[in-house]
Amino acid sequence: MKPINVGLLGLGTVGGGTLTVLRRNQAEITRRAGRAILVKMAAVRDLSKAQQLYAGEDIKITTNPLEVVENPEIDIVVELIGGTDQAKALVLKAIANGKHVVTANKALLAMHGNEIFAAAQAKGVMVAFEAAVAGGIPIIKAVREGLSANRIEWVAGIINGTTNFILTEMRDKGLAFDTVLAEAQRLGYAESDPTFDIEGVDAAHKLTILAAIAFGIPMQFDKAYTEGISNLTKEDIQYAEELGYRIKLLGITKRVAQGIELRVHPTLIPTKRLIANVEGVMNAVLVKGDAVGATLYYGRGAGAEPTASAVVADLVDVTRMHTADPEHRVPHLAFQPDALSDEPILPMSEVRTAYYLRMRAFDKPGVLADITRILADMEISIDAMIQKEPDEGQEQVDIIMLTHVTVEKNVNQAINKIEGLSTISGKVTRLRLETLG
Ligand code: HSE
Repeated sequence: MKPINVGLLGLGTVGGGTLTVLRRNQAEITRRAGRAILVKMAAVRDLSKAQQLYAGEDIKITTNPLEVVENPEIDIVVELIGGTDQAKALVLKAIANGKHVVTANKALLAMHGNEIFAAAQAKGVMVAFEAAVAGGIPIIKAVREGLSANRIEWVAGIINGTTNFILTEMRDKGLAFDTVLAEAQRLGYAESDPTFDIEGVDAAHKLTILAAIAFGIPMQFDKAYTEGISNLTKEDIQYAEELGYRIKLLGITKRVAQGIELRVHPTLIPTKRLIANVEGVMNAVLVKGDAVGATLYYGRGAGAEPTASAVVADLVDVTRMHTADPEHRVPHLAFQPDALSDEPILPMSEVRTAYYLRMRAFDKPGVLADITRILADMEISIDAMIQKEPDEGQEQVDIIMLTHVTVEKNVNQAINKIEGLSTISGKVTRLRLETLG
């Protein structure tokens, strides 16, 4: 059968990895797909660099990405340029030209996925995005197809390798956030502008996609609660360990009676959970289905070949399915497009979880009684507590409390009142705690 022709938008780390994997495993991939998958063309930013790297290869290199999406010989466009403006225009153009699209671009899908999928649906083409979430882990396939018997209850994932590396180093070496961030940048794990990673935005993009396919809801990135790790101290990591918990940046989406929780924040999880032991740049996603129970997916969330593994799997899927009637393909968001649900995303104030609270108090009679009275008035029940001995010559002590599950708005009020006590110095540190049981 005649080969399927692929055009790449971007030939950097992932594009290069995709070429390498397609070449190395060509025979296996053809046996799986039923026909050869050939990269015919690639759009790059730096022509001379690409020509040097890919000299002698049978790939047309251009600096004009429109040449790829307009080329009638190209069957599948692989979008690897990132960003949202140009990528969106090119993807929509490719779709309008009747091409299937494979993309690794989580920001693009989280923000413009509804429009892109509607355009693809109208045109009868596929937009595949396995590489957009957790790199090489086939989590889209697992949730969208492997778990399709289940009513998904919740998803909780370590879906950003940069922040997981930073948290691991802070705990292992007792270092401060800024020190480890600089190290992560030196090693090339963190971008020179690390904002999207460390402030949880990258994880929120991925979580938005996971929530959409887990619950059959539209992409609603603007409603995701996003809190990163830049304010986390090594002391909090240490105290959490003393209490039997590890702090991870988790993306959590959960279906509850009133709607859907969609939140990214540093989270205490029991050290004994498998996912608490996912270290360094590795990613892992826990999915709880009503029939299957909890399932855990682990692997590399970034890097040339792990991400290429997902891109090429999508290329194989599209190659197998492109002659099928669109209604016989797996729907983009796992559920039929006319069966998406309008369940609301809950505001953070309505989220129910447990809490870690750390405060600095003067070591005087009655201080604890004042704090516990405030918590009791807000119907917040204490699960565990430690008070550290004051450092030599210090009058203030750290008090750390874990609460039972309660509602976020009550905790907000309690924190305000505690911070108003004359015996409390500075702000209360609040972290959320999930048992993931
Ligand atoms: N910047 C991401 C991470 C990888 O650190 O996990 C690409 O999604």
